[in-house]
Amino acid sequence: MRVLLIGSGGREHAIAAALAVDPAVTALVCAPGNPGMAALGELVDVDPVDPGAVAALAVELSADLVVVGPEAPLVAGVADAVRAKGIPCFGPSQEAARLEGSKAFAKDVMAAAGVPTARARLCTTPEELAAALDEFGAPYVVKDDGLAAGKGVVVTDDREAALAHGIACGRVVVEEYLAGPEVSLFVVTDGVAAVPLQPAQDFKRIFDRDRGPNTGGMGAYSPLPWAPPDLVERVMATVVQPTLAEMRARQTPFAGTLYVGLALTADGPKVIEFNCRFGDPETQAVLARLDTPLAGLLHAAAVGRLAEDPPLAWYPGTAVCVVMASAGYPESARKGDVITGADGVPGILHAGTARAADGALVTAGGRVLTCTALGAGLAEARAAAYALVDGVTFDGAQFRTDIALAAAEGRISIP
Ligand code: AMP
Ligand code: GLY
Repeated sequence: MRVLLIGSGGREHAIAAALAVDPAVTALVCAPGNPGMAALGELVDVDPVDPGAVAALAVELSADLVVVGPEAPLVAGVADAVRAKGIPCFGPSQEAARLEGSKAFAKDVMAAAGVPTARARLCTTPEELAAALDEFGAPYVVKDDGLAAGKGVVVTDDREAALAHGIACGRVVVEEYLAGPEVSLFVVTDGVAAVPLQPAQDFKRIFDRDRGPNTGGMGAYSPLPWAPPDLVERVMATVVQPTLAEMRARQTPFAGTLYVGLALTADGPKVIEFNCRFGDPETQAVLARLDTPLAGLLHAAAVGRLAEDPPLAWYPGTAVCVVMASAGYPESARKGDVITGADGVPGILHAGTARAADGALVTAGGRVLTCTALGAGLAEARAAAYALVDGVTFDGAQFRTDIALAAAEGRISIP
């Protein structure tokens, strides 16, 4: 199988690593990829959000499968353009990707499907915004309606800050605050059959103890020893199946990865958000444990034959990953800081890295790399992930020291 993978982040490096060890994969091309992915496959430059360019590249490479990592190409219609050339593509259509591309659309689908989620108001004027903030009260949750790379959401007790964010975004969804630990569940689906991966937890805030602004995600672990044993089954029944049925009923079936972001509240699991792709950095932790060959799974989903696949096989231990970010992240990202200790190290997955003219590895984005490790349990996996972090240096490096710590210490509980 000749596979073309679109994207260049830590998630794509993790996907590429899993594809590269699938014996069914005879060629792997990453476009545009990153310096870490160069060790796994050929890198080809392409504009990932140009549907015509990606489809033409897939044809030129005689790809048997195109895997689209990030949301922006999916929202731009890349999967449609690839499928129009007769090439199987893992990733939802442009219409179906609106589950992530528009928070208001996602809320509409959830309401129609009876999916448990936070009550919400779509606001387009400062007056509507103020009224919605007062209706739900603090903590205030204000979400940019469009794509914002995980940074369009403000959760704050400060009414002025909530108002300012809403006014700056223009069109926002204001919603009820959901109290309870968060879970990310990725479901691979062909639109009808749906296979859940094992749940993970992400760390959104930049600083330890969940302080500071939201980021794209600063670390993750999987599985979740504190989660109720029936969690996945319950979310499949109350969230995933009704959502997929509603998307089919709208003639826009959702095929690809449905990323369900949940809060485990006192009233049961409720959806915080849907995304239309794997999460970053949760994928780095989840795929590190997946023993089932990934290309076969994604191909089955792309061609509508997922129901025929055997159950997934997992490494029985734990995976922890810790993101190292550049100086200034998440407000900005300083580029050009020389990185040492990351080249060719197993478990170090690149994202915002680049090769300088002299061959040195340098920072080139907000989240620079993810240190991912396995262990028998959380303590061992944390120690191994932080040992990788200790081996990497660059000026201004930021990372959290408490990824998976509360879980390791048994301090997570559902209200
Ligand atoms: P989102 O992009 O919708 O996932 O939001 C980013 C982060 O903001 C989430 O991971 C949560 O930590 C937080 N958040 C979003 N919506 C809510 C909510 N209704 N209640 C509590 N926290 C939320
Ligand atoms: N880790 C959060 C996301 O991928 O959106």
